[in-house]
Amino acid sequence: MGTSEIETYDLVGVGFGPSNLSLAVALEEHRGGIPGQPLTAAFFERQPSFGWHRNMLLPHTTMQISFLKDLVTFRNPLSRHSFVSYLHSVGRLTQFVNNQDFFPTRQEFHQYLEWVESNFSHQVSYGSEVTGLRLPENSGPGRPDHVQVEVRDTGGSGTRIVNARNLVISTGLVPRMPEGIQRDERVWHSSDLLERFRGLNGDDLKNVAVVGAGQSAAEITRFFHDMLPHAQVTAVIPSYGYSVADDTPFANQVFDPSAVDDYYFGTELTREAFWRYHRNTNYSVVDDELIRDLHKRSYQEDVSGHKRLQFLNLTRVAAVRRAGTETRVTLRSLVEGESRELETDALVFATGYDSMEPSRLLGDLDQHFLRNQNGLHRVERNYRIATTGALPFDVYLQGGTEHTHGLTSSLLSNLAIRSGEIVKSIEQRRTERALIHRTPVAAGESTS
Ligand code: FDA
Ligand code: NAP
Repeated sequence: MGTSEIETYDLVGVGFGPSNLSLAVALEEHRGGIPGQPLTAAFFERQPSFGWHRNMLLPHTTMQISFLKDLVTFRNPLSRHSFVSYLHSVGRLTQFVNNQDFFPTRQEFHQYLEWVESNFSHQVSYGSEVTGLRLPENSGPGRPDHVQVEVRDTGGSGTRIVNARNLVISTGLVPRMPEGIQRDERVWHSSDLLERFRGLNGDDLKNVAVVGAGQSAAEITRFFHDMLPHAQVTAVIPSYGYSVADDTPFANQVFDPSAVDDYYFGTELTREAFWRYHRNTNYSVVDDELIRDLHKRSYQEDVSGHKRLQFLNLTRVAAVRRAGTETRVTLRSLVEGESRELETDALVFATGYDSMEPSRLLGDLDQHFLRNQNGLHRVERNYRIATTGALPFDVYLQGGTEHTHGLTSSLLSNLAIRSGEIVKSIEQRRTERALIHRTPVAAGESTS
């Protein structure tokens, strides 16, 4: 491809989950900036179509945030892209209110996200994975003002390049498996669940096990218990029992937009306190209703004498061996330190996720970005990664900033505000550059 055909955008978004969808809305609603030159944007998403944790869209699962923490409302309550607007447009607003519930099902929230996405799909290339970045050769007059972004068509039709003046990386959480254990058609991570489950005949699943004590593990345990009425369902729990997610009002303040400032500008002690006291708002915890439901099921089985739901507490998985359709799991009890074997037809590791980490995507260019004493990227308050010197482009992170911005980093709670802050920063820096160079900034043009 000749450089004359390469499109240049003010903003290239990597990934198109809720974070960058919210950013697309914030861009549309952005006012001000350089008159007559709106910021141009393109988004690249590796999935074939929009999807938000589709493999965990289990029946009856609900959102873990209020519907008012949608893609826009906290930034712009007048937005036409709010959850309330969505309900109005599909004729469910009255019934939603009558339902008296702050927490929609994940299925309904997914429908809302798709509804918003339908207004922005012209900016998104699906089946397109961003695989790398490189600096352009300085062929023309003046310094380049962009980075080249390499995009691979996941359908196999090759690779293309687009130019980006700003990159917003929002590639999401990374599934975490215990060390040495590989995923396959019988050993799944929770993020594989529905696709793998649908790929097998349910009648063949007579013994299934779920590892972990977080929300995913509890939801999958209930799902198996519902969907496989003939099966033994074993929950392998590292703790003594499921712990409840603290969503009480005072604790919930850790997800407020103002908590980002308190965390960011606080001391090490401040940040440590957030984690020490409030990790249980999100990690390794389960909704109260679900814990009680699982316990009731188990108790009812005790009463009926037909026991098929087992909770192995204080237990971790030591090893997994696979042979044909059989999976043999070595379990280690934290009480006696003894091991025992369990045979399963399907084994699900609901063992959580690692944070988003942009190093692989940044590749060789990563050396130009600053890191703190723990080796993590230094991220400015506006979510821009700090650089060692002037680079011809900026990189912003939506996700992967728990160390700098706190608990909302990987969640939906602060998306609306964060997206607005990123757009504002990109606009501000563009205006500053235009003033320094005293040349108008062209947007969306082709380079020559
Ligand atoms: P998300 O992971 O949604 O999207 C990232 C996108 O980037 C993906 O679509 C991926 O395909 C794409 N991508 C990755 N690499 C790419 C590349 N190189 N090129 C192109 N595309 C690429 N939080 C909350 O606040 N309330 C809730 O109720 C829930 N519920 C919930 C349920 C489940 C099952 C999970 C696992 C997590 C949650 N969360 C949550 C947390 C969750 O992180 C959050 O809901 C959003 O998914 C965050 O949106 P993002 O867009 O940042 O990531
Ligand atoms: P999580 O909260 O990180 O929980 C992972 C669990 O796996 C923990 O109990 C952890 O124990 C355990 N674990 C890790 N390694 C293990 C091992 N080797 N052996 C046994 N257990 C092990 O992950 P999650 O449940 O997937 O939740 C992740 C995020 O998704 C959260 O934000 C959650 O709220 C969200 N989520 C939301 C919904 C919803 O909206 N309905 C549904 C699912 C998930 P330790 O505590 O010892 O590490």
